[in-house]
Amino acid sequence: MATEQTTGQPSESISSVLSERRKFPPPEAFSSKSHISSMEQYEKLYADAAADPDKYWGELAGQFHWFKPWDSVLEWNAPFAKWFNGGKTNISYNCLDVHVNSWRKNKAAIIWEGEEGNERILTYGELHRQVSKFANVLKIAGIKPGDRVAIYMGMVPELIIAVLACARVGAVHNVIFAGFAAHAITERVNDSRAKMVICADGTRRRGGSINLKNIVDEAIVNTPSIRNVIVLKVTNEKITMHDGMDHWWHDLMGLAEDECEAVQLDSEHPLFLLYTSGSTGKPKGILHTTGGYMVHAASSFKYVFDIKDEDIYFCTADIGWITGHSYMVYGPLLNGATVFMYEGAPNYPQWDRFWDIINRHKITIFYTAPTAIRAFIRAGNEWVTKHDLRSLRLLGTVGEPINPEAWMWYHKYVGQEKCPIVDTWWQTETGGIMVSPMPGATPTKPGTATRSLPGIMVDVVRKDGTACEANEGGYLVIKQPWPSMLRTIYGDDERYEKTYWSEFPGMYFTGDGARKDDDGYIWIMGRVDDVVNVSGHRLGTSEVESALVSHEAVAEAAVVSRPDDIKGNALVAFVTLKDGYEGDAKLRDALGKHVAKEIGAIAKPDEIKWAKGLPKTRSGKIMRRLLRELASSNEIKGDVTTLEDIGVIENLREQEDE
Ligand code: WT7
Repeated sequence: MATEQTTGQPSESISSVLSERRKFPPPEAFSSKSHISSMEQYEKLYADAAADPDKYWGELAGQFHWFKPWDSVLEWNAPFAKWFNGGKTNISYNCLDVHVNSWRKNKAAIIWEGEEGNERILTYGELHRQVSKFANVLKIAGIKPGDRVAIYMGMVPELIIAVLACARVGAVHNVIFAGFAAHAITERVNDSRAKMVICADGTRRRGGSINLKNIVDEAIVNTPSIRNVIVLKVTNEKITMHDGMDHWWHDLMGLAEDECEAVQLDSEHPLFLLYTSGSTGKPKGILHTTGGYMVHAASSFKYVFDIKDEDIYFCTADIGWITGHSYMVYGPLLNGATVFMYEGAPNYPQWDRFWDIINRHKITIFYTAPTAIRAFIRAGNEWVTKHDLRSLRLLGTVGEPINPEAWMWYHKYVGQEKCPIVDTWWQTETGGIMVSPMPGATPTKPGTATRSLPGIMVDVVRKDGTACEANEGGYLVIKQPWPSMLRTIYGDDERYEKTYWSEFPGMYFTGDGARKDDDGYIWIMGRVDDVVNVSGHRLGTSEVESALVSHEAVAEAAVVSRPDDIKGNALVAFVTLKDGYEGDAKLRDALGKHVAKEIGAIAKPDEIKWAKGLPKTRSGKIMRRLLRELASSNEIKGDVTTLEDIGVIENLREQEDE
């Protein structure tokens, strides 16, 4: 299906309306004890890193264990990077063995709470033992360095064990969010030609459970590369274990030795794949490698979250997304931190679950998403105010722009007006945080991620690549390679080059619109391509369109977004039916279910509108801009001169008035 190219909007069309004047300097009590405690210190680090990036990154990398030192910090053959090339290391060794050989051996690595309130604590020593055992399981199953392993399970400690065991033997993990449907697993397994799936029988959700193994069974009917499925018992689902193919986690662990030396891997050895939406229907397998990812995930975690050994850090993200990879697993464990992990839903059994957790476990750092904050605001202040949150010292957000009002609420009710807030901008592709306040140094303003981390060269540019003036809207780019950058789109160097490096020659294009204010703070204005951010997760509108069109009743579909109070954006689908089908409530419901089945519930359109035809240009491209206007205001203000048939719009509007 032809889609209108919207990436190339002129910069005049990005107009920024927010003007936020409140400013919050970091509290003195926080600054005095933080790793970066003043703007002068930040500016100096920033300037030094800009002047000599190799020195800056080389020094950070030197803090890790390398079996063999690197030959060069960066080899840049644009747009392909090699960081710490020639060096040999293992990220699981740096997450575990390093701490087990120190006083941290008996420190809690993971404190886990199940939805039903049950608890587990894994010390670094115990986590090391479990990971080593499971690494032996992988070896016995014939997994070799470079083999791809898909992981599909809920938020239980074994998910972290599986991830680290892959890293230990050099297998490339591909975690698939447990909310995705069978088709999404099939697609990812086939694209990566994974050999194995590690899954759970089920996952708990809001007092009930979801049978994951049945979904895996359905998915792997069409995946010739899968040889084995390892199944962790979590919920006691009714499942079928297939002889030869399926094995219980506990049976295999019972047989495995608990010592397994970490494999010495090249710095550029692939570490993981994580699939994310782009502006076409096919998800992109974002490839991250070992050494560079390790250095930035760890150092960004240390500086942005100002981590100390006494902290208990709670990140609410699912490990199925990049936030879970970098800031629940690798960043914290590389720093020897204590991570709090919660299995279930934020509103189970009630809307105060997170606040109750913070109070009971004395959480000190809390990292969540704006969409969650907006949902808490709607649920009512009393859920927060009845809990003692005095243990908190730092708050964070990620996933989408935070509206200033939500920021103020977070600051007042959760942060008790004493916790700095780090609004962290980054992407699956960047591997780690790129733009964020340094909590002990940067004065914050509600709604902006402020400035980039030392060593990270972001800018806002015009269509022609020249830098924008202050307050002029433009495109957010990154002007120099950074260690945790994606290395390619798995199996598709050409798409990698085209998607990220062709729009602005010599620069990485993020896909986001942005402006810098007078203080040089970056304000993200949302995506400029056909990608929509729903509840902090990226969805390609064309993926949802493909799912709709795969339904027998649908001839053509266009999906756009409109602003939504809770989710940030809501999806609106304009659907043209094939002859003989009636656009009624029943079909609407069926299409919603169909999309949920094809992609997952997060992709379900919030609204489906029947369209006799879709507005197209004379060359047949769908004019999404018009549909976006219709979806959010039911009015068309923009230019319609390129429209092939004006009657189409009239038809769509008539339906509104029905
Ligand atoms: C897109 C990346 C990085 C983990 C979560 C999402 C948007 C992310 C912010 C923020 C404004 C943000 C951007 C970005 N985004 N964080 N703090 N302020 N926008 O990862 O699915 O790869 O999506 O999320 O549009 O490009 P992702």
